Amino acid sequence: MHSQMQDWQSDHVVLVPTMGNLHMGHQQLIQRAQSLGNRTVVSIFVNPIQFNQASDYEHYPRTIEADLNLLKKMHVDAVFVPSEAQMYPDGESRTFTMPAMPLANEFCGRHRPGHFSGVCTVVARLFEIIPAHSAVFGEKDFQQLLIIQHLVRALDHPINIVPVETQRESDGLAYSSRNQHLTDEQRQTAPWLYKILTQARLKYTANHSQEIQEESVKLLEKHGFKVDYFHLCDASDLTEINAETQRIVILCAAWLGQTRLIDNILFQKS
Ligand code: PAJ
Repeated sequence: MHSQMQDWQSDHVVLVPTMGNLHMGHQQLIQRAQSLGNRTVVSIFVNPIQFNQASDYEHYPRTIEADLNLLKKMHVDAVFVPSEAQMYPDGESRTFTMPAMPLANEFCGRHRPGHFSGVCTVVARLFEIIPAHSAVFGEKDFQQLLIIQHLVRALDHPINIVPVETQRESDGLAYSSRNQHLTDEQRQTAPWLYKILTQARLKYTANHSQEIQEESVKLLEKHGFKVDYFHLCDASDLTEINAETQRIVILCAAWLGQTRLIDNILFQKS
C-alpha cells in the first residue's frame, strides 16, 4: 500500500472507508471522492470492535469478490482490505481513547454501547495508515459523521471530512447492507420509516417537537417497527432544538424483526 502511495505525493488522495458489501450509497461516496481528488482509495474492513453483538458481526454480509469487481469497473485507484492483525497489531490493547464527546453517548451510542469507540478506533487507524487529504462519509449515519468531524478536530488531524447525502431506493428506503436481512413482508414495510420522517419534517415547529416525536413513534409501532429512538435535534451537535435552531435533523433507529434500520432527515428551518 505504502510503496504504491509513495508515487502519489503530489496528488490529492481521497479515502472512502467502508465495511464492504457495496451498494448504491457507497458508489455515490466513491463518485464524490473521484470528483474531489485525483486518487481514490476505498477501504473494506468489517471492524469487529464496533459490533456490540457477536451474531451481528458474524452475519454481516461479506461479498469481497463482487466488491472488488465493482471497484475495478469504477476505476478506483487502490483498495485497502486489511486483516485484523494489520489493523490491530496490538490485539487486545486496541482500544483507542476517544476524546470526550457527549454526543457519542446518545442515540446509537446509548443503544449500542462501545459502538462509536470502535468506529473512532478504526477510523483513526485508517487515517494513520492511509495518508489521505480528504475522507468521504455518508449522512445516512449522521451521528457517525458528526463524531468523526469531532474526532479530527480533537486530534487536530489535517484531513478534510466530506459529507454525502443519503442515497435511497425509489420507494425512499435508504440503501443499507442490512436491508438484505429483511423478509419480503418487512421490505414492503421498511419505506414507512422515511415516510414518517418526511411527515414529521412537514409538521415541524420548534414548540411541537415532543408531540411530533410521540406521534411518529406511535405511527412506526402501528406499522410493526420497534423504535429505539425518534428524535428531533440540532444538526450541529445533536442537542435539543430551541426556537433559534436553524438546521434540524430528525434521527431514527427502529427494528423490523431482527433487523435494525437507521435513517434521518436533515433540513433548514423555513
Ligand atoms: P458502511 O456501513 O459500509 O458505510 C460506509 C460509508 O457509506 C459510511 O460513511 C456510510 O454513512 C455510507 N453509507 C451507507 N449507506 C449509505 C446511503 N444509503 N447513502 C449514503 N451513504 C451511505 O459506516 C461504516 O461502514 C463503518 O462504520 C466505517 C465508517 C467504515 C467504520 O468501520
